[in-house]
Amino acid sequence: MPRLLVTGGAGFIGANFVHHRLNHHPEDRVVVLDALTYAGNLASLQPVKGRPALRFVRGDIRDTALVEGLLREEGIDTIVHFAAESHVDRSIHGPDAFIDTNVQGTHSMLKAARQVWLEERAAPAHRFHHVSTDEVYGSLGPDDPAFHEGTAYAPNSPYSASKAASDHLVRAYHHTYGLSVTTSNCSNNYGPFHFPEKLIPLTIVNLLHGRPLPLYGDGRNVRDWLHVSDHCRGLDLILEKGRPGEVYNIGGGVESENVRLIETLCQVADGAFRERKSLASRFPDCPAAREERTASLIRFVRDRPGHDRRYAIDCGKIGRELGYRAQVSLEAGLRDTLDWYLANEWWWRAVMDGSYQRWIDTHYR
Ligand code: NAD
Ligand code: DAU
Repeated sequence: MPRLLVTGGAGFIGANFVHHRLNHHPEDRVVVLDALTYAGNLASLQPVKGRPALRFVRGDIRDTALVEGLLREEGIDTIVHFAAESHVDRSIHGPDAFIDTNVQGTHSMLKAARQVWLEERAAPAHRFHHVSTDEVYGSLGPDDPAFHEGTAYAPNSPYSASKAASDHLVRAYHHTYGLSVTTSNCSNNYGPFHFPEKLIPLTIVNLLHGRPLPLYGDGRNVRDWLHVSDHCRGLDLILEKGRPGEVYNIGGGVESENVRLIETLCQVADGAFRERKSLASRFPDCPAAREERTASLIRFVRDRPGHDRRYAIDCGKIGRELGYRAQVSLEAGLRDTLDWYLANEWWWRAVMDGSYQRWIDTHYR
């Protein structure tokens, strides 16, 4: 029976992964370690709250002694390491937290794993899986081939530089100490429980309120969009069949310019308002409530400094070796995501107005 420690399991991808594991692998023991920063929300674990297989611990990955204690006490044999500062714009305004969490924090996790799994020989068969990003590879020109696992690192933001540093530490702990590690570098995720500071959830919340939809620069930066459920499936395959010491790229296989993506999302919203008349009374400020085009809210604003132009992922390796293939098309994924935000207004209102954070601070000191 796998015994997992999931760091950052109250964040966007981590929470989706916890739901995925508990639904598809009910025999697992899942311990979530999360500091509950602004990006971590226990509300995201609400659907699986009370499941005996799940334990939540509020704590910091930089607390090596705490991590070592959890590895021993719970007999953990698998770490899935999501915890990070993840928003590029925040890294531009304040890089320190990114170095602290993403570099020092990952190193703390590696030290704890080395101590308990290798020095104390507590788990001869173990796996440290590190969740990283395609942003470590830098920016592509329009005709460049997609990022593959051998693409040279060229991170451009404090965020991607901190993730690159963490990737190198993970690699070094395998090479030097023999820790059994895998790393995945994936593209832009979207789906349920996505904090509304990132492009897709921000757009959804703004359009429902009739607020401007900001697009940086000319809006023609390209991202490769990956539905979070496909990402979770990819992670499962790596945990099950991935080779220690290897890196796997995970993508959605759908490149889109930001402006095209947001226009599509607006059309999806227009369609939803046409089909469901009740939406107009719930969200009267959305242009679609007046049968106007939601895309009229798009505004081009000042560009992000150092904004990477294009990301694209070649996921041939994980496809060939592990049988991965993205299953969710972009349009279906956007429709499902909008539906999820419409059905879970309580979640985004609570995380955005700070009421959930206040509740957490009173209950989890
Ligand atoms: P997120 O910001 O939504 O969640 C991060 C989680 O980590 C939060 O729950 C937060 O409370 C927790 N955390 C932060 N600092 C911590 C600390 N010191 N100790 C313990 N917990 C801490 O992030 P996400 O979007 O879910 O991303 C998860 C991982 O996936 C990150 O490592 C990120 O770099 C990587 N990634 C994300 C994307 C994406 O599109 N979101 C794409 C590629 C890779
Ligand atoms: O590629 C993987 C990365 O994807 C992850 O490693 C990061 O953790 C994750 O945050 C994401 O980074 P991006 O910077 O690509 O995501 P974001 O949603 O912030 O922006 C997506 C694109 O949209 C990017 O080109 C910037 C642009 N953008 C973003 C925001 C928030 C806008 O045009 N307007 C906006 O308001």
